[in-house]
Amino acid sequence: MNRIDLAGQIAVVAGGAGGIGLETARRLAASGARVAIWDLNEAALGAAANALPEARTTCVDMMDETAVSAAMEAVQAEHGRLDILVSCTGQEARRCAVVDWDVAAWRRSLEINLTTTFIASKFAVREMMKRDYGRIVTMSSTSGKDGNPFDSPYATAKAGIMGLTKSLGKELATTGIRVNCVCPAAIDSPLFARLPPEQKQFSIGKIPLGRLGKMDEVAALIAWLCSEECSFSTGAVFDISGGRSTY
Ligand SMILES: NC(=O)c1ccc[n+]([C@@H]2O[C@H](COP(=O)([O-])OP(=O)(O)OC[C@H]3O[C@@H](n4cnc5c(N)ncnc54)[C@H](O)[C@@H]3O)[C@@H](O)[C@H]2O)c1
Repeated sequence: MNRIDLAGQIAVVAGGAGGIGLETARRLAASGARVAIWDLNEAALGAAANALPEARTTCVDMMDETAVSAAMEAVQAEHGRLDILVSCTGQEARRCAVVDWDVAAWRRSLEINLTTTFIASKFAVREMMKRDYGRIVTMSSTSGKDGNPFDSPYATAKAGIMGLTKSLGKELATTGIRVNCVCPAAIDSPLFARLPPEQKQFSIGKIPLGRLGKMDEVAALIAWLCSEECSFSTGAVFDISGGRSTY
């Protein structure tokens, strides 16, 4: 593991109780950051607290603006600042053709997979602007570039995250805040393990490297995007797809 210096940095990993978020929290902590993990899944938060005792774990519904605001105030009260936000919140949806999607279920998927990142970013930026410094990393997916047959709201939300990242990055370009997006193909993770076999094969078959990505490979990229050295990139989408993505 290369050393990335995040000594003393204050970081929030939203949706960080499991999978890529927890791996990222581990990597940020190993790089010297003080990490808060926010998630809605209480059982997963308990397991995360055991796995990473140095992190502070808090139950936060990232769809709830009031709850996110209160959690951010708690970080401010404890540390006086926020340097890093990684927004990992997300959830795969059920398999369903576009013509069959229930509108309420479609909206809920967009809320979980897109609006959570908007809310997290909004309150993080307010904190970061006080010190004119910050690093925000959002999580898209190759689904957002290529589409995802039978999970269209997920793909739509992930395309939206790229739009949000590009917009926010440009809005803040003359400040000390950098906003970038990570765009993975299929990663060997609990989320991927839950997918139906035919969707797993579809995803792996599209990766020229012929294998799934690893969570620590994604966390390594995120850790660099969270560092001060990531100074001339903003509003950018960083591919980590084993050669799958062509743009
Ligand atoms: N695993 C993959 O193959 C893959 C590929 C591309 C992109 N991604 C994206 O990376 C991110 C992390 O993926 P992962 O594999 O770690 O998935 P994951 O399901 O393990 O992590 C998502 C986390 O979000 C949390 N969450 C869901 N709704 C929430 C809410 N309302 N409030 C707070 N927390 C909430 C879940 O409890 C979970 O811990 C997601 O955005 C996912 O879409 C994953």
